[in-house]
Amino acid sequence: MKGDQKVKSPSAFRKYRSAIDAELRWVLAGRKSPLYEMMRYHLGWVDEQGNPSPGSPGKALRPTLCLLACEAVGGSWHKALPAAVGMEMMHNFSLIHDDIQDDDRERRHRPTVWSIWGKPQAINAGDALATIAGLALLGLAHRGIPAGKQLLTHKLMYEACLTTIEGQYLDISYESRFDIVVSDYLEMTERKTAALISHSLEVGALLGSDDEAVIRGLSRFGWNLGMAFQVRDDILGIWGDEMKTGKPWGSDIRHKKKSLPIAYALETAKGKARRELVDIYQEEVIDDEGVRAVLGILEAVEARVYAQGLANEYHDAALEQLRGLSLLRWPRSQLRDMTRFVVERES
Ligand code: IPE
Ligand code: IPE
Ligand code: MG
Ligand code: MG
Repeated sequence: MKGDQKVKSPSAFRKYRSAIDAELRWVLAGRKSPLYEMMRYHLGWVDEQGNPSPGSPGKALRPTLCLLACEAVGGSWHKALPAAVGMEMMHNFSLIHDDIQDDDRERRHRPTVWSIWGKPQAINAGDALATIAGLALLGLAHRGIPAGKQLLTHKLMYEACLTTIEGQYLDISYESRFDIVVSDYLEMTERKTAALISHSLEVGALLGSDDEAVIRGLSRFGWNLGMAFQVRDDILGIWGDEMKTGKPWGSDIRHKKKSLPIAYALETAKGKARRELVDIYQEEVIDDEGVRAVLGILEAVEARVYAQGLANEYHDAALEQLRGLSLLRWPRSQLRDMTRFVVERES
């Protein structure tokens, strides 16, 4: 990316957005408890008081990929909408819980659910969202999807959810460890992020085709895309502009996350620099000065260059997967654009 040029978001995001929103609203329609107001707030539909507000709903990456995969294999994307929305709800469940686990007070430019309603109720909101994700899949029956494929979609979504939680387990367990190296990071990342993205594509392809090779190929494409996505997220988590990311400066470092740049520094920094990094990470609270010192160490080992290089490798591997697959022209070019978008995005 040159200079300040804005990263172009693929047009698939705009094509499916209103259908995704309508399906999400339909799934939540008629549910009146204040429990659902927390969800509507998190999804960016209402403000803290429950009044309609133009909040930021998130990128809808996973449902967009799901619908794109369905279209790419020659399927009718409308039929895959319940699954796309199920995946998006599962993702949002993981975000509500993730903000509790990471003690983050801000997401999508707004206070997080727990920071307004408290952790116990935010756990309820997340649990309810994960449950509704399962109910959303019932819509597949009304769209003529055969029972066998409905069941398989359920299995894939819940496997993805479970794998995400395994990843979150590792992420938290790494906070108190200093022996984390890049291979540990990759083991966590394929679980906490790549699985749901990969399964979103797999489900979309499954609902549009019976061709196992193409379904598997899109799943592998999604795995590489998901890895690239999280690596880029880690770069933004340290060097991103908070006005664009909607997340506070230095929060990954303050929370002692072993994001990729840190895992790389722990693996490669030597002597005094490594000792200093471990000392800072062992402090009870990492203040602004500590964050700046960590940034200096990351710069010395060129952690940012390394991380972007790795994101680009996953980008290339994703494209390589696409090359071998027989897909319709427009969705194929969109999947290519998505690959570029995830490694260049600023938010
Ligand atoms: C954030 O995902 C969590 C990660 C897996 C890095 P997104 O960046 O897709 O979140 P929203 O939905 O667009 O806010
Ligand atoms: C991403 O978590 C994965 C999940 C939410 C399951 P992170 O903690 O790395 O992502 P952000 O930066 O809070 O979105
Ligand atoms: Mg986290
Ligand atoms: Mg987080």
